[in-house]
Amino acid sequence: MAPKGDSVIVSSIKLEKILSMKGGKGELSYANNSKSQAEHARSMLPLLKETLDRVELSSPEAPFVVVDLGCSSGSNTIYIIDVIIKHMAKRYEALGYHPPQFAAFFSDLPSNDFNTLFQFLSPMANHSGSMEETVAADSHRSYFAAGVPGSFYRRLFPSRSIDVFHSAFSLHWLSQVPESVLDMKSAAYNKGRVFIHGANESTANAYKQQFQTDLASFLRSRAKELKKGGSMFLVCLGRTSVDPTDQSGLGLLLGDLHSGCLG
Ligand SMILES: C[S@@+](CC[C@H](N)C(=O)[O-])C[C@H]1O[C@@H](n2cnc3c(N)ncnc32)[C@H](O)[C@@H]1O
Repeated sequence: MAPKGDSVIVSSIKLEKILSMKGGKGELSYANNSKSQAEHARSMLPLLKETLDRVELSSPEAPFVVVDLGCSSGSNTIYIIDVIIKHMAKRYEALGYHPPQFAAFFSDLPSNDFNTLFQFLSPMANHSGSMEETVAADSHRSYFAAGVPGSFYRRLFPSRSIDVFHSAFSLHWLSQVPESVLDMKSAAYNKGRVFIHGANESTANAYKQQFQTDLASFLRSRAKELKKGGSMFLVCLGRTSVDPTDQSGLGLLLGDLHSGCLG
């Protein structure tokens, strides 16, 4: 940590270890304060399903692997993973195949409250029955689950191992505060504020550059990890105004990327 001006720069690695949504199940927890994200996610299900319809089905012998990046510690991630797996199972069945075994990875920064998240998971269905029975059993989980701690701005999975990536309301978190924004001698210095509403153009440019660098790292990593024929569905917060320093209105940006565009 190096002091600069009257601010303290926290390295991106340290930031990853301390940032998180509020864990647990208390009144102020993310688990109890993420209804609006859940509502937006539900309104986007038709688009998500369109994306899933374009995923290439691999051999039902191989596990089908789904990842939620920036899963946090509420039940939204479990709902979405369930939707994805049920939809994909139906696609296999419609072609006359037994659905494959499904695996879901819940990924977030190491500081995320994975313990609370795992408590929301229903028990795994009994695998001695058929996969159709397993997927149809509503009170049980039809997939193997695991948590993956780490930043989505770096590699998280082996090459060509993931069929579907999903990420919602997470990519607007940058890997770090741009250094110039904290430097009192820089034109981009933002006077210690944690928002850019009303800031100058240099500050806006510094954040824009950081976003571009981060997004490029995110896409480079996912391009390596996605299986051929796999897909990625991204939901990001955006602005409704063209002014990059206007934070008064929130909009949603959707992204649907296939392995062919990432390779
Ligand atoms: C608003 S929550 C979204 C949770 C969930 N996707 C939902 O829709 O309810 C944003 C999550 O992104 C995670 N996050 C932020 N930066 C991240 C990074 N670099 N790598 C992985 N997760 C990150 C945060 O820890 C947080 O849990």
